[in-house]
Amino acid sequence: MVAQVEMEQNETSEPEATASDDAPIQVRQGDAYDLMADLPAESIDLLITSPPYWGLRAYGQEHNEEILKEWLAEDSERVQTDVPPYEWYRKHGGVLGLEPLPEWFIGHLVEILQRGAAALKPEGSMWINIGDTYFARWSSIRHDGRQGLGDNPRSRRRTPMGGFRQEKQLLLIPARFAIAMQDLRWILRNDLIWHKPNVPPRPEKDRLRLAHEHFFHFVKRPKEGRAKYHYDMDEVEHGARDVVFYDFDEAGYDEADPSYYDFQEVEEGEHDVVTTHVRSGSDGHSATFPIGLIKPRILSSCPPGGTVLDPFCGTGRSLTVAAESGRRAIGFELSAEFHEAAQKNSDQSLGQLTLELPDVE
Ligand SMILES: C[S@@+](CC[C@H](N)C(=O)[O-])C[C@H]1O[C@@H](n2cnc3c(N)ncnc32)[C@H](O)[C@@H]1O
Repeated sequence: MVAQVEMEQNETSEPEATASDDAPIQVRQGDAYDLMADLPAESIDLLITSPPYWGLRAYGQEHNEEILKEWLAEDSERVQTDVPPYEWYRKHGGVLGLEPLPEWFIGHLVEILQRGAAALKPEGSMWINIGDTYFARWSSIRHDGRQGLGDNPRSRRRTPMGGFRQEKQLLLIPARFAIAMQDLRWILRNDLIWHKPNVPPRPEKDRLRLAHEHFFHFVKRPKEGRAKYHYDMDEVEHGARDVVFYDFDEAGYDEADPSYYDFQEVEEGEHDVVTTHVRSGSDGHSATFPIGLIKPRILSSCPPGGTVLDPFCGTGRSLTVAAESGRRAIGFELSAEFHEAAQKNSDQSLGQLTLELPDVE
């Protein structure tokens, strides 16, 4: 069943061209900030991605640790939470994910995604996977590996404290990001929780292990009426549907207290939490998407033959899953090494496929 919900506006003008040429997978090397702006209008059905998280990994890029000082030195009226435009930041040696403050990171991530807004079809979807970070005045940045683990090279850096940036604080970066997107008119449809049952042990003795990440589903807000977008509910995981039919008698409904339900009695499992093991990365990348996490999103949020974009594609997992599911795919990747791996994986995947995609108009 494909839901087409309440379309009242968004008469789409004919796109100038589609984002994809004949190749079912295209991998482009460069900064998503630039490449997003080159996409034809309304050519993407689904943007699905996992950007760099704040303050964890360098992905092999060199970052200017003096950048906050340089930003403040340019204008004595500035305060450190004034976020520089991404172009200024990049020009001065800044790397996405290594911003001195989480506020800067959220500003840049939203700015980059917003550059892709015009390329997303009105009935398209955006799924963004993002994890949280604990604040520490002195933190470790891994060249590539997981925070606090393994023997990957790391560098120490000092992060300014202030406001919510306090020692031991869980920063709620995913929530701050989602609110920033809402402020830019995006409609948040789900905050899917990716439960990771196999997270490695942590040394901390005063908190629980962080075993989940967020996967936000955003759609466009039309100028009038309610959002309408492609969604194939038959393709989501069993148990991930939010539709629950309560049997009030069985659920222990109490007329004297209508707010009372005995949820022990209703069917279990209908929720927006998806349990998928973290797998070890591939091609030297430590943050490869698990197929089980993204395939249902691709199948449910992109129509067959539609186009999937991953602007931070790493080694291209979302691209190969999209192609293997009969969708076209475009990936952007800054690192030459990961771009090469994504290209290789895409070629391998296409070599094993007989794709029957509709012609691009
Ligand atoms: C969390 S990883 C994505 C991993 C991917 N989901 C996979 O399955 O392999 C983020 C990726 O974004 C890349 N990246 C960082 N900044 C970027 C930028 N400005 N433009 C494009 N890619 C960028 C990093 O090199 C890294 O490979």
